[in-house]
Amino acid sequence: MTIACSHNPNTIDEKVDNLLSQMTLDEKIGQLVQYNGFWDATGPIPQESNTKKKYEDVKQGLVGSVLNVYGTAQVRKLQEIAVTQSRLGIPLIFGMDVIHGYKTAFPVPIAEAASWNMQTIEQAARISAIEASAAGINWTFAPMLDVSRDPRWGRVMEGAGEDPYLTAQVGIAKIKGFQGTDLSHEQSIAACAKHFAGYGFPIAGRDYNTVDVSMVTLYNDILPPFKAAVDNNVATVMNAFNVLNGVPCTGNTMLVRNILKHTWNFKGFVVSDWGSIMELATHGYARDRAHAAQIAIEAGCDMDMESYAYRNDLKPLVENGTIPESLIDDAVRRILRIKFELGLFDNPYKYCDSVREKTILHATDFSKEALQSALEAIVLLKNDNSLLPLSKNQKHIAVIGALANDKDSPIGNWRAQALPSSAVSVLEGLAKYTSNITYVQGAVLNTNPAGFTHKVSINETDKSGFAEAIAVAKKSEVVVMVLGENCFQSGEARSRSDIGLPGVQQELLEAVYAVNKNIVLILMNGRPLTIPWAGAHVPAILETWQLGSQSGNAIAQVLFGDFNPQGKLPMSFPRSVGQIPLYYNHLNTGRPAGFNRVFWSHYTDIENTPLYSFGHGLSYTTFAYSNLEITPKKNGEYTITARITNTGTRVGTETPQLYIRDIVASVVRPVKELKGFTKVTLKPNESKTIEFVLTDAELGFYTETGAFTVEPGEFEIMIGSGSDAILLRSILVLK
Ligand code: GLC
Repeated sequence: MTIACSHNPNTIDEKVDNLLSQMTLDEKIGQLVQYNGFWDATGPIPQESNTKKKYEDVKQGLVGSVLNVYGTAQVRKLQEIAVTQSRLGIPLIFGMDVIHGYKTAFPVPIAEAASWNMQTIEQAARISAIEASAAGINWTFAPMLDVSRDPRWGRVMEGAGEDPYLTAQVGIAKIKGFQGTDLSHEQSIAACAKHFAGYGFPIAGRDYNTVDVSMVTLYNDILPPFKAAVDNNVATVMNAFNVLNGVPCTGNTMLVRNILKHTWNFKGFVVSDWGSIMELATHGYARDRAHAAQIAIEAGCDMDMESYAYRNDLKPLVENGTIPESLIDDAVRRILRIKFELGLFDNPYKYCDSVREKTILHATDFSKEALQSALEAIVLLKNDNSLLPLSKNQKHIAVIGALANDKDSPIGNWRAQALPSSAVSVLEGLAKYTSNITYVQGAVLNTNPAGFTHKVSINETDKSGFAEAIAVAKKSEVVVMVLGENCFQSGEARSRSDIGLPGVQQELLEAVYAVNKNIVLILMNGRPLTIPWAGAHVPAILETWQLGSQSGNAIAQVLFGDFNPQGKLPMSFPRSVGQIPLYYNHLNTGRPAGFNRVFWSHYTDIENTPLYSFGHGLSYTTFAYSNLEITPKKNGEYTITARITNTGTRVGTETPQLYIRDIVASVVRPVKELKGFTKVTLKPNESKTIEFVLTDAELGFYTETGAFTVEPGEFEIMIGSGSDAILLRSILVLK
């Protein structure tokens, strides 16, 4: 590596400037190029893709990063080419979608969010970083911070639900987990706040579709999690694929250069999403690839993931004066700064320790942490007559449903290097408790070997297993039905127009119910589903999402009461797909319920409310809320306190939620907004006082010009066990 310097540059900025001053235009542009690795593709492969050329470019110092190259052997091999064969020996940064685990699979992100436990979420990200960094990865394309109100969109699986405050807290926890306290530590990896921005609001819930929202929605509901990520030193940000109000995000100067880089003073770098620079032409926003490259670099997109636009078109644009080299320099500085902060220049092979790889990935067990994450993610949606927990001496349990025996779907769609079919299945988890189980599949769920790149074909017709399921259910005391989605039915490019139980599962459920009403429904899914029939008939329902490696063990422990469920929904469950977008933090309208017998905002064929609301989740015990108090503090802040008592017979953990309503404001505010939550574990009859602090940050809002404002007036203060279970109310008068 030949990095000469006039004097000993001390600070990272000095080192960056010193290196930049030695770079040719080709080498500068090289830093802005990210190639996909040579096997896994997480997007459409462009025709320019050519493995031999990629190696050649690395050797010429014309590549800054690669994604989907992992394993110390492969990473070292590529890094050695970059560092020893290119003129300046600038190390590559290796990125990968380590979304909810690298080898140990944690619950999918929407499930993690259901735990509302930021320590557990941070821990999972920390372990993901420990495993990924042992395999050569130093950058993850996570956390995904796309708020969404539309469960038709498959990527709700990857986010933290419908609320900006919860999503922001989850994002902060994940960034801390991935990046640690020192980015240069060998077990820290750079995080990436994605997808910037608005990707979760696609029209009709169809992935990659157009996004058209008001600036009030953009500033108050979509941007806050990204602002929180930037305020918590996220190293990188990824463009979203979508058009936002007429301008594609990858070329959106207002969004990237003005808000992110100028107003928020973001110092890291922005990577495009897969091919999204080239897609500026497809959107109809760029004439061709060269025009796309110009728009993207001007808008503030620093690195080009797999569109070859920067590789092929930036140099002529600089040479013919279309774009100033200073734009290239700014992007290069940002990328080099992160590489210096990661310590890649001090030791380009720090992530290539094959002994550490073996020790971490093959001799370190994170099952305990994976189990804890899974347990806390489970949401008890319904439990009539306390059917749950089951007695450990329960006789004759029928277990019905293909997902009960599925070791693969719990691993989820974004599985990095988690081994296929490596999860503990429901059957395996139950077997640790009882042998009084008869399992029947009842119905095949998917009829083709699932895979990220294949569309999963769902069994819509084959009911040949129904008779056996009915026969077994008839002679069983209780029926545990495990129904839901194959893990490749949610995630990227997996939007669904009908979000009911896929295939013949609903019919199977009703056929079993006809002979035995004692049903515990275990849902395994990557998004909220519309299950109105189950909600009306089935006595007990557990939402278990896709819980990762320890799925079956967690489900069994909750089923038999060794763990008291504590999860709360991060996203509303609609009664019907016709209600979407459906979210708790809606506006009142001028004709809310009660306004008039006929003329009010409602449907004539269904209730307005969700089947299960944001923040909903039951326990095997009960809690009472009392003593709400608001205490103004000297510094203009307010302390909100209340008492929570365990009024049941089991130890339990509750998640009290604080909501506010700015009753009258210059921009109409939602009927309630989450502004605080905590977790409290109580023994029977034990009480604790919980405390929240409200500051301007929680009481204010953004106007359509992006100005943050706090307006005097009355605020309703609400504390509850769910957005639809407000148990304490009071009024705060802001002077
Ligand atoms: C995908 C996803 C993005 C991911 C990237 C790299 O298309 O949109 O979330 O990080 O490509 O795999």
